[in-house]
Amino acid sequence: MVCLGNICRSPLAQGIAERIAKEKNLQWEVDSAGTSAWHLGEAPDHRSIQIAKTKGIDISDQCARQIGPDDIKKYDLILAMDSENYNNIKQLIRDEEDEKKLRLIMDYVYPGRNMAVPDPYFDGNFERVYELLYKALDKISEELV
Ligand code: 4NP
Repeated sequence: MVCLGNICRSPLAQGIAERIAKEKNLQWEVDSAGTSAWHLGEAPDHRSIQIAKTKGIDISDQCARQIGPDDIKKYDLILAMDSENYNNIKQLIRDEEDEKKLRLIMDYVYPGRNMAVPDPYFDGNFERVYELLYKALDKISEELV
């Protein structure tokens, strides 16, 4: 799960994915990271922690980090929150095999529309972020079974 700061969208995406995996007994190893190094070592934004908490998910122990080439090698699927993140991640990819791992997360629900999970850092709309992420990750969990 990759966004810009790794404090709003991707930590929430990680928490939701871990919850869905647990509920459906899927053997997923989930992590999140940012394309920027702006918030390295920080806990998720308090608004992300709060919205997750209202859904019964605890993301408070996550810690922001920056995505690197090792992540692309390690994971089977790299989910970008928007096209800016997507393009920045693409620059870390060196071979065709790994390029297939990179997807825009909302493509699973709205294919081909280049739809973003909108950055909530300034507009504060974390409820919408939660709804979009849940929808996409639930769909992904159906497709990957
Ligand atoms: P995120 O949100 O990419 O979902 O973690 C943001 C967090 C911080 C900033 C922008 C977006 N920022 O400008 O510091």
